[in-house]
Amino acid sequence: MSREVEDHRSHNNSRNMPFGEVVERHLSRRQILQGGLGLAALSMMGGFGLGGSAGARAQDKTPLALAFEAIRGSHTDAVVVPEGYRAQVLIPWGTPLNARASAWQNNLAMTPEQQANSVGMHHDGMHAFPLDADSGSRRFLLALNNEYIDQDALWAPQGGPTQPDGVRPADEVRTEINAHGVTIVEIQRQDDGGWAHVVDSPYNRRITTATPVLLSGPVAGSDYVKTRYSSDGTRTRGTNNNCANGYTPWGTYLTCEENWPEVFVNTGERFSDDARLGLPTDRGRYGWETAAGDDEHDDEFARFDVTPGQGEASEDYRNEARTFGYVVEIDPYSQAVAMKRTALGRFRHEGCWPGPVRAGEPLTFYTGHDSRNEYIYKFVSAARWDPADAPEPGNEADRLAIGSKYLDEGTLYAARFDEEGRGEWLALTPDARTPSGQTLAAALGLEAGDAAGIIIHTCDAADLMGATPMDRPEWSSVDPVSGEVYFTLTNNSKRTEDGTEATFTNGGVAVDAAGVGFATAPTNAANPRANNENGHIIRWREENDNRFSWEIFVFGSDVDAADNRSGLTRDNQFASPDGLWYDDRGDGQGILWFQTDNSDNAVAEYTNDQLLAVVPAALGAGGGSGSVINADNQDQLKRFAVGPNGCEVTGIFATPDRTALFINIQHPGNWPADGDALSQDATQAASGKVRPRAATVAIWKADGGQVGL
Ligand code: FEO
Ligand code: CA
Ligand code: CA
Repeated sequence: MSREVEDHRSHNNSRNMPFGEVVERHLSRRQILQGGLGLAALSMMGGFGLGGSAGARAQDKTPLALAFEAIRGSHTDAVVVPEGYRAQVLIPWGTPLNARASAWQNNLAMTPEQQANSVGMHHDGMHAFPLDADSGSRRFLLALNNEYIDQDALWAPQGGPTQPDGVRPADEVRTEINAHGVTIVEIQRQDDGGWAHVVDSPYNRRITTATPVLLSGPVAGSDYVKTRYSSDGTRTRGTNNNCANGYTPWGTYLTCEENWPEVFVNTGERFSDDARLGLPTDRGRYGWETAAGDDEHDDEFARFDVTPGQGEASEDYRNEARTFGYVVEIDPYSQAVAMKRTALGRFRHEGCWPGPVRAGEPLTFYTGHDSRNEYIYKFVSAARWDPADAPEPGNEADRLAIGSKYLDEGTLYAARFDEEGRGEWLALTPDARTPSGQTLAAALGLEAGDAAGIIIHTCDAADLMGATPMDRPEWSSVDPVSGEVYFTLTNNSKRTEDGTEATFTNGGVAVDAAGVGFATAPTNAANPRANNENGHIIRWREENDNRFSWEIFVFGSDVDAADNRSGLTRDNQFASPDGLWYDDRGDGQGILWFQTDNSDNAVAEYTNDQLLAVVPAALGAGGGSGSVINADNQDQLKRFAVGPNGCEVTGIFATPDRTALFINIQHPGNWPADGDALSQDATQAASGKVRPRAATVAIWKADGGQVGL
């Protein structure tokens, strides 16, 4: 999500200690840890190994070595990769998925039907699902988020959108709605080492902001989500602003709704959650609601205006926005109706990443709210993991029924990062006791036991329990052996100096008895930099009794900054970390990849957005984890790829054999080079002006070896 489109306001007015202050105070504890407690801390982490194995790092083994030369920063209309690597454009926006869509051409006039049968726009999070147990490195289903749209590119042949600030034509709105959501597409490796999608694969499909979906979990069937479309509150239409993602051990895709509030509008009385989540009060982002009227079917546009009417909730769409803000589960192997898993909370979800999977233990999913001074969450399933619930890849199975077993019942927690590198998970249950001794339900003004109400008001619940406001939580990934969780905190322009007073929206006056979030918040130990424009990556280890220990893994910075806390060099300076993936290579070894979504700072003056790599186990003396990036190990953090001008680099996975790595180029300015080509070299720059198209990029080594090594 580019900074042009993201919501720059802070909607968190609570008084909880901001995360920056927590980090500052933590640094001294980290020094103590390194001075003698490090091994004890490591042995505490042992229980997080896969399958309950010891989980100790391969301390005596030689860590993996990144075997590419870090590339320079660049500002070109091309993808740049290290020498010896190839990079290919794959499934750019508008690529036909089936015979109902005509072939892409640079001057194609997009229509609702064409877009519904083609790859969506602005690729973001993604994940690959093998079609059988053996061939996943040659053939798989790609599930891909299409986060938002570039109206100028979408409507380029007609010179831009019609009346972007007035009444929108119905078919333009339908097309824009169909450009959002999720794409499922079959991908195959070609004999020349390149990649192609399978046109007309029976698996190919789109789930757009219009596709019917089911609500599941605590909110489903509650009064909070009854609408004229679903008077029993069990259904809604579409998923929107699908940013990052997750996946499950039973072979389903999790897609996460991030900046969805902006497609709605409420010109009347607002619910407190509308205000907290930032629903517009004058016009939706693209004015979709203005197309309501004689040209629409079944309130397909009217539903975006959530202004309450005079009658019952089931007679209007006042609750429509309450059917958004969730983690959505999709079975890529079937055409089953997707399900919004409301138990995982309601906010601007960035992504949803599984923790270590161990037989007989609950499953954990980490998820974050990407707004300034908002929170990190985790969901712990009530059901304990049964390996028999993992169907063979591609087998027919009711995967969403398995999802209902693990994702509809459990406990949602918000994180409090304390000083001294400690932290606690705060349960967001109706009966949880707030620091003032009330039940959480009572503190929120809800009836006793109202689990649905807690979910609708997730952010307020986290305020009241004392969660730590963070510097915009983005992606997360877990080292499955150590159990260490990495989380990107991209930046925060509303983080103020230590000692300043926090400010609160609504003047700090609680709405509906709920807590209210921070508008600005002073630094805390875990978010230690005022006006944090470069961001950082935090890492934690779970402990018993809902406790954890944490440290800052790396601080973004330009090389010349006085506040270059991790000692970055020209070869790895970065800012605004966003996408992130712990690429497990087995035996306690792995590569941590992370991507950037940066602009308007000294790093942006040096380079376009980028992909970096580091082997965490290679950082410390003896190869142990627990070491962070510092001035002494700069050669370990390397720039692997740079995107074209104007883009953000996001989305990442590799084939099981690690011979191909896939990333996404979102909102490029003038790329890919050839407007008409189905397949082309991603490293080629256009000779003139092209209609830009977000695309996946497949990267592999010319010699066929593992990427990165
Ligand atoms: Fe869609 Fe927070 O990035
Ligand atoms: Ca993101
Ligand atoms: Ca971002």
